[in-house]
Amino acid sequence: MCGIVGITSNKQVISPIINSLRKLEYRGYDSAGIATLNQGFINEVKCEGRVNALEKNLLKSKLEGTVGIGHVRWATHGAPSTINAHPHSSEKVSVVHNGIIENSTILKKFLIKKGHKFKSQTDTEVIVHLITEYLKKNDLKKTIIKVLKKLHGSFALGIIFKDYPDMIVGARRGSPLAVGYGPNENYLGSDSYALKTMTNKISYLNDGEFCILKNNSVEFFNDIGNKINKKILELSENNENYDKGDFKHFMAKEIEEQPVTIKNCVKEYVDKINNDINIFNFPWKVNEISSIVLIGCGTAFHSCLMAKYWFENFTTLDVSVDIASEFRYRKNKFKKDALYVFVSQSGETADTYASLDLCNKNKMKTCSIVNVVESSIARDSKFVLPIHCGPEIGVASTKAFLGQMLVLYILSLKISFMRKDIDKETYVNKIKSLFTLSDLIKKTLETDSKTQLVCNSFVDIKGSMFLGRGYSYPIALEGALKLKELSYVHAEGYPAGEMKHGPLALIEEGMPVVVIAPRDEYYTKTISNMQEVIARGAKVLLITNKSKDEIYSENIWEYIEVENTTDDLLPFLITIPLQKLAYYSALKKGYDIDKPRNLAKSVTVE
Ligand code: M6R
Repeated sequence: MCGIVGITSNKQVISPIINSLRKLEYRGYDSAGIATLNQGFINEVKCEGRVNALEKNLLKSKLEGTVGIGHVRWATHGAPSTINAHPHSSEKVSVVHNGIIENSTILKKFLIKKGHKFKSQTDTEVIVHLITEYLKKNDLKKTIIKVLKKLHGSFALGIIFKDYPDMIVGARRGSPLAVGYGPNENYLGSDSYALKTMTNKISYLNDGEFCILKNNSVEFFNDIGNKINKKILELSENNENYDKGDFKHFMAKEIEEQPVTIKNCVKEYVDKINNDINIFNFPWKVNEISSIVLIGCGTAFHSCLMAKYWFENFTTLDVSVDIASEFRYRKNKFKKDALYVFVSQSGETADTYASLDLCNKNKMKTCSIVNVVESSIARDSKFVLPIHCGPEIGVASTKAFLGQMLVLYILSLKISFMRKDIDKETYVNKIKSLFTLSDLIKKTLETDSKTQLVCNSFVDIKGSMFLGRGYSYPIALEGALKLKELSYVHAEGYPAGEMKHGPLALIEEGMPVVVIAPRDEYYTKTISNMQEVIARGAKVLLITNKSKDEIYSENIWEYIEVENTTDDLLPFLITIPLQKLAYYSALKKGYDIDKPRNLAKSVTVE
């Protein structure tokens, strides 16, 4: 989603702004722009498309300046176009924005009456004119306080002013914003990742706060303009490799990295010598918890759904799962003995954050499972369990999904053992199996050639279905999501047993259907459901695990066998060919795999 960069310096800022915008490209965007203040004038250069195109336009325009703001836009109000790209400027002010101004139509009417002329269809432009209007009668600080009060909705803002030459104002409500500190320069960024090439000293704005950056000072204020102090955090110096290396796409790299990321995560949480799980400083006594509520969006929601099966199988806790965008607006019955678990790769997803915030306001026990440990969700949760899988750049979540599932699995085992819901022997055996998982994933990645072959049948189709029962149902949902988001094919994930209640009507001669049927307790039932779709003309790709038992079924179009392991770890292996199926289908179609159309990596608006 939209990304913001701002730099105030004693040197030229165009090239570092471009570098930071490149760091924000992973979020998914459709246009880009930069504005600077130079010799008393605000100038902007914008374009539809990528940062590369912006760079070309900048060369032609010779834009210069020691203070500037940059933006990559993911369209909300108004189509992707140069005119709607940010920054939006008046003669006096230029603004970049991430978020949505919900009352922009009303504010626009008011401003038009005052004589303001609008150029774009964006909600952001009202902020420009509102600031311009208020600056007529107020000083800068008062203007900011008044304008922020007028805005409904969510925002992270970066603002430069004609009459305040070395200054950038940043403000946050809902959408994340970080401030970075450098020598004779200071920075604003949507996330610390965007600023990492320039500094490892970061502060984060909280909701309602704003900041004033100059090249030699940074000040923070609350919503009524009182000065506040901020901690300066030092980001860990990691040597993680953000390059694609020899891979064509980040997604391909991230799929292949999974044996390593899983190994690292197991190492972080599992004590091999004592066969125990290390979850230190868990802030609550286990008998204070009698239910678990798992909350996430998209792929993270699927890992929550998966965890429901593990928690229910291993513990006697009540378990419920919720999509964050629903949870945040429902009339929830908050229970003191519930543990609320928020799952998010980015840790910035607006709906997941809002759900966490709601639980915090109701004084609930909140725990988050995140990849980005400096994220808003991690910072505001009472307890954090990182998934340790390194940066995930491809919009389609792959290694983070396996990482989320692993940490949820580990948490379910630990809690069940602490509650004495499972005995020591079962606990130790399950821990031992975890040490085999990385190698099994590595071997399962070898199903690659088969997946490349079958993907041809998923390229030019009207639609497809992914079916599974039990542990395989959340994986079916995830397989369908991957195929639709990458190769733009309509794909439905369904519980195999639900087909007769409507979806069977969709099955047509030759329709590719993926049936996920590992040899677990649901196997025979799923195979019967598979026969029902085959009988109606479906072309079935069966995904199961290796076994000495033959597959007792005829007329299966193709099958892929993953390695064999315990029933509860099979979902990790079954996921691999589904990730590859989506990847290769999109590759065949020549689509932008790391940045699928209309999507963003970090969904910071609701
Ligand atoms: O960063 P999060 O895990 O909170 O993101 C949630 C979803 O937006 C994300 O999983 C999305 O569904 C993926 N693009 C799917 O591959």
